[in-house]
Amino acid sequence: LRSALLLVQILECDDVILLDGGQDLGKMLVFPQETNTAHVRLTPSRQNLGAVTVCMRYFSDLTRPFTFFGLATPSYNNDFHIFKMPARDEINVDVRNIVLNFKGQDYQLNRWQSVCGTWDAASGLVQLWVDGKPSSMKFSTESNISGPMIIVLGQDQDSYGGSFDSGRSFVGMISDVHMWDYVLPPHHINNYRRKFTFPPGNVLNWNLIEFQIVGKVLIQEEQHL
Ligand SMILES: *[C@@H]1O[C@H](CO)[C@@H](O)[C@H](O)[C@H]1NC(C)=O
Repeated sequence: LRSALLLVQILECDDVILLDGGQDLGKMLVFPQETNTAHVRLTPSRQNLGAVTVCMRYFSDLTRPFTFFGLATPSYNNDFHIFKMPARDEINVDVRNIVLNFKGQDYQLNRWQSVCGTWDAASGLVQLWVDGKPSSMKFSTESNISGPMIIVLGQDQDSYGGSFDSGRSFVGMISDVHMWDYVLPPHHINNYRRKFTFPPGNVLNWNLIEFQIVGKVLIQEEQHL
């Protein structure tokens, strides 16, 4: 309770927040309003990536498009971008602004789900996993993600760190955001989904994550249902 109070105090200063602990902290981010301002900026531990895996959990009742995860560099606003399309069963994964559309995705309202996206410059292949269900592998790009990265949750970066649109904002809850600089093997993606053991992200680690809150985004205890 004390650390929760401390977090709230820090939060009001709009400062950098470090959630640090050796284990699952049981915290989630709540995005309670549709705005074109409220967002969270995550600070990655490294630059120049030849591969990426991003995994996160979300809970929402949005039926319009929104951004799950957006990584921008000065040259590419969608350098690694997971995006919910208007169609209920379609999710896009963009790398270096190259759009890939994945159909038959089991996006559901009012249920905690996990989403993971992987990409690797060696093969150029992208794959999406929703609740542990894989997509087809599709070719995107063999070019590294390079340049200073801005990672945003809650808003869609139409330009580097900005040009937000409320019609693409996220409303709901997000938790367990991890990012790796390699393609996480399927058994670890499955373990992530089931909350079993997996190697925490080495670019973003939810249990030891540095982030900055702008506007009305709240940290709450995770609800284990
Ligand atoms: C791409 O990224 C990998 C992994 O970080 C690195 O080893 C390689 O040198 C990079 N390639 C270029 C052209 O920057």
